[in-house]
Amino acid sequence: MRRPLVAGNWKMHGTRQSVDSLLKGLNQQDWPEGVDVMIAPPALYIQQCHASLIKSPVYIGAQSCASQAEPGALTGEISPAQLRDAGCEYVLVGHSERRSLFGETDEVVRKKFAAALACGLRPVLCVGETREQRDAGLTAEVVGTQLQVILDAFGVGGLAQGVVAYEPVWAIGTGLTADPEQAQDVHAMIRARLAIMDDEQAQLVQIVYGGSVKADNAEDLFAMPDIDGGLVGGASLNADEFGAIARAA
Ligand code: G3P
Repeated sequence: MRRPLVAGNWKMHGTRQSVDSLLKGLNQQDWPEGVDVMIAPPALYIQQCHASLIKSPVYIGAQSCASQAEPGALTGEISPAQLRDAGCEYVLVGHSERRSLFGETDEVVRKKFAAALACGLRPVLCVGETREQRDAGLTAEVVGTQLQVILDAFGVGGLAQGVVAYEPVWAIGTGLTADPEQAQDVHAMIRARLAIMDDEQAQLVQIVYGGSVKADNAEDLFAMPDIDGGLVGGASLNADEFGAIARAA
């Protein structure tokens, strides 16, 4: 069986002081056995988080990484090797905010995925459609294309070394959650697409849902057969709520 993953994406929130109090709260949580838990703080606070959570089962992730593993003249970038060195186990790639606000193309996402794997990080590949694309009936095509770029390069086995996060753009930070059936439909479509290539590996891939996951909707979402946990934004900034979401998985 697949282990659920509950991951918190802190986005660009926090100060040393607020991170410290969030970490105190995280260290007081009763983390469930059998669930992978990860937080992705802003890069500046990765080492603070790693040091504070050293005795806890919570993994550290990064929100993005450079698209090459080797050191180089890339001002302002952080390589996946440096993230690994700082204690990260995961890195998000292709979050919709990176795609829409920073122009990350599928090709850049593919390079980041490759660089992350090369450094021993688990890439969390974010995919999802906009409201307009959903209304035009393009969800399967959009999500399928975002996935296919990775599948062509690494196969289902390569994807299984990471995680897929289905994050419908219209549900991110809006309070509008995809209802469990809506989300399950897309997760099942993703798994079916993988299964055509390699059924055995497809059953192993963790596919998590992101988009306004909260303590009060997590249980219903996670009860769906192809939803293997969540990628949580806003609600991960509250340690008790994030703990409750992890316990719902
Ligand atoms: O990566 C998490 C995400 O984009 C969802 O954010 O605030 O809707 O939970 P939020």
